[in-house]
Amino acid sequence: MTRAVFSRDDAGQPPVLFPAYGSTVLRAPRHAPIQAPQTVTETTGPTAPWERLMGAPAADLTTQAGGVAQGQRIIVTGRVMDQDARPVANTVVEIWQANAAGRYRHDKDQWDAPLDPNFTGAGRVVTDDEGRYRYVTVRPGAYPWKNHANAWRPAHIHLSLLGPAFATRLVTQMYFPDDPLIALDPILHAVPTPLRSRLVAHFDMDTTQPEWALGYVFDVVLRGRGATPADREP
Ligand SMILES: [Fe+2]
Repeated sequence: MTRAVFSRDDAGQPPVLFPAYGSTVLRAPRHAPIQAPQTVTETTGPTAPWERLMGAPAADLTTQAGGVAQGQRIIVTGRVMDQDARPVANTVVEIWQANAAGRYRHDKDQWDAPLDPNFTGAGRVVTDDEGRYRYVTVRPGAYPWKNHANAWRPAHIHLSLLGPAFATRLVTQMYFPDDPLIALDPILHAVPTPLRSRLVAHFDMDTTQPEWALGYVFDVVLRGRGATPADREP
């Protein structure tokens, strides 16, 4: 049996060391990477029924905790593609984000913003045959992160896209197009300038539902030409 081999492709990706993004200074490797041989562990990934490994789908983050989450309800949708614009079907898209006030439900997030008892901030969806995904959530708030004086992260949603194998996994962030903090964010600035727009969703009236939710579209290219830049957040 012939297995695919996935080579690293750093074109368009942020550097592992970007001093303006302070924690990269501590964790960036000091030596050149060693290419490890890929085995079946890296060149395969969960296929249906992937729920056995990753859990059931959770496509509506606004209602999964019992009540209704506080905040601006939004729909996020898009296509997951390879570098030749072919759809990546049946791939798991995991989502995690702060609540509408900018706070994560996590022990290490203790800044002075309210938790929402009806919002966990975690979701999981799967692409269809066209590579499309869709989930409902609330727009996350900005939050402080101590990288420098008066540092605030722009509103963002974290995403993990598995692709066809563990070696193709992409962890990245989606930003919102009308956010003034984007211009000040060292994490986004680690991405080469012409490629930053790949991380910003666009507002879409066709996705927006009357009297219910605003719609955003965020397409993702897993690797190669047109790849969506990864994030370097731990
Ligand atoms: Fe975050």
